[in-house]
Amino acid sequence: MTTPRTIRFKLNDRAVSANVMPHESIVEMLTGHFDLTGARESCGQGLCGCCTVHVDEKPVSGCLSLAWFLDGTHVRTIEGLADGDKLDPVQEAFIEAGAFQCGFCTPGFIMMTKKLLEQHPLPTEDEIKHYLTGTLCRCSAYPEIVEAVKIAAARAQG
Ligand code: FES
Ligand code: FES
Repeated sequence: MTTPRTIRFKLNDRAVSANVMPHESIVEMLTGHFDLTGARESCGQGLCGCCTVHVDEKPVSGCLSLAWFLDGTHVRTIEGLADGDKLDPVQEAFIEAGAFQCGFCTPGFIMMTKKLLEQHPLPTEDEIKHYLTGTLCRCSAYPEIVEAVKIAAARAQG
C-alpha cells in the first residue's frame, strides 16, 4: 500500500507542511490541504496554463507537477500576490483593462505576467503574445489581456 509523505515547504511566505500521496498534483494539494482554489485545473495536460503557480520563482503547471517533490521549495500562488487588502499591480492592471470575462484563466495569466515583467520590464506586443502563448483564454479576452500587461509594465516604470 502506498503511504503518504510529509512535505515541508513555504507557501506564500508561510512555513507549512502537508501529507501528500505520490500521485497528488500541486493543484490537488493546494485545494485539498490549503483550500486555495486560485490555481485551477482545466485541461489537466499542461496545455492551458490555468493552473500556473511559481515554485522557487519559476512558473510551473500545477496540474502536472507532483506535490511530492515540493519539499524545501517556496510555492507562490495567486493568493500570495496581494499585500493584505492591496492588490498586486498586475492584478490591478487586469481589473483596469477588464482583461477577463469568466475569469477562469485569469490567475494563470497573472502568474505568467509576473514572470514576463521580471524578464522583460517593458515588453513589446510581440513579446507579450509570445510569452503568454501557453496560457489560453476560452473567452478570448486576449486584446484586453495584452492591454493589461502594457498597463502593468508602464506603471512599474513609474
Ligand atoms: S490545467 Fe494545467 S495546464 Fe491546463
Ligand atoms: S476569461 Fe474566461 S477563460 Fe479567460
